[in-house]
Amino acid sequence: MNNISIVILAAGKGSRMKSNKAKVLHNISGKPMLYHIVKESLKVSDDVSIVVAHQKDAVEQEIKKYFPDINFIEQDDVNFPGTGGAMRNITAKNSHVLVLNGDMPLITAESLQGFLDARADIVLSIFDLEDPSGYGRVKIENGEVSYIVEQKDANGYEIAITQVNAGIYSFKKEVLDTYIPRLENNNAQSEYYLTDIIKMAKEDGLVIKPLLVDEEHFKGVNSKLDLASAEIIMQERIKNKWMTEGVSMNLPHTIYIEEGVQFFGECLVENNCRITGESLIKNSIIKSSSVIEDSVVIDSDVGPLAHLRPASHIEGTHIGNFVEVKKSTLKGVKAGHLSYIGDSEVDEGTNIGAGVITCNYDGIKKHKTKIGKNVFVGSDSQLVAPVEIEDDVMIAAGTTVTSGKVPSGSLAISRTKIRFIEGFFQKFFGKK
Ligand code: UD1
Ligand code: MG
Repeated sequence: MNNISIVILAAGKGSRMKSNKAKVLHNISGKPMLYHIVKESLKVSDDVSIVVAHQKDAVEQEIKKYFPDINFIEQDDVNFPGTGGAMRNITAKNSHVLVLNGDMPLITAESLQGFLDARADIVLSIFDLEDPSGYGRVKIENGEVSYIVEQKDANGYEIAITQVNAGIYSFKKEVLDTYIPRLENNNAQSEYYLTDIIKMAKEDGLVIKPLLVDEEHFKGVNSKLDLASAEIIMQERIKNKWMTEGVSMNLPHTIYIEEGVQFFGECLVENNCRITGESLIKNSIIKSSSVIEDSVVIDSDVGPLAHLRPASHIEGTHIGNFVEVKKSTLKGVKAGHLSYIGDSEVDEGTNIGAGVITCNYDGIKKHKTKIGKNVFVGSDSQLVAPVEIEDDVMIAAGTTVTSGKVPSGSLAISRTKIRFIEGFFQKFFGKK
């Protein structure tokens, strides 16, 4: 591991997000922004801390789900608000400290390498943007960084500067020890700005190295608009990775695949599909406009327009259009059209006809349906759970199964006898 500690600033309110949820918990490809940053940070440092304050409990709880051992530091955001205030209580066991804003979900371990290699008193990330709005402007004179001014504090000349602070810095630890306590809050937001260190350090003759970085990795997310454009970049990365691994995709820009999804073997994902959570897809075809949430699909074909809801396990199975499956295991099954299969286990050789519904909810509780091997469930049948259909059964079309158990080898049929009423049509519509 590198001789560098990482501190991620995640204590801000994120008011430009206009949301009740802490900014760093907004999702990119199914995981909180902060998750992506921590994941990449842990690849380069063995000492990663997160500074929290606003919605502290929610942020800690969410991040601990993924990283139970991560270290949290609390900011006194009442007396010391701002990114400089966030740094007052930090601890770092290494000689250098890499500070990351918690709203940069697109960083990668590789993109941090430049900060690990360059050893100056301060390394400062910069990018040059056509539209610099929202970022702190970096004043560079004679090739050297002089100071950073926040947009809200900038004068007309400074506003026009297109070189901006990307929000990543590496500091020698003693630089932080010296300057953090000396920061003041006489600015437009009455906050303690970490960025004010630059001016003080420059005046004291410290070495400040600007490092040019790209927006694709260091984009800051402050608004829902930023969130949407960061999502596009993350999605492209995820899909490119899987296509490189051999997954075929039709019109990949129309497909959404979350960070936790895994593919094995040879798979095809058609246009407009959405695959989320920790789904696992192996040797399968997901046809267009299907949604798969937290489910396992092995040796199967799903869709078009099918919906696998969480905890479904589909193996050697055909799921056709307008079929919804929830929390069910189907092995060697055909369910070709217009069905709801919930809280069910369905075994090999079974055919689920068009319009079959498992009635799993009685208004209070959910109940299970168990269907054995080689069962033929006729179209438009309702299976009122709890119910067990044993092996080798035929359910006649239109049957409502309420018996709890259908014995092996039998036919289940519940129909009223059909009647023909002569002359009804003419009478009803008044036609001769
Ligand atoms: C900050 C920089 C700006 C830079 C931009 C890059 C400062 C003063 N400004 O501005 O120069 O161009 O990032 O994206 O640093 N935070 C805390 N505690 C606080 C306030 C913020 O931990 O009291 C955290 C936030 O949760 C966030 C990060 O610090 O993750 C940055 O805060 P934000 O308000 O987004 O700063 P910007 O205005 O974007
Ligand atoms: Mg920001």
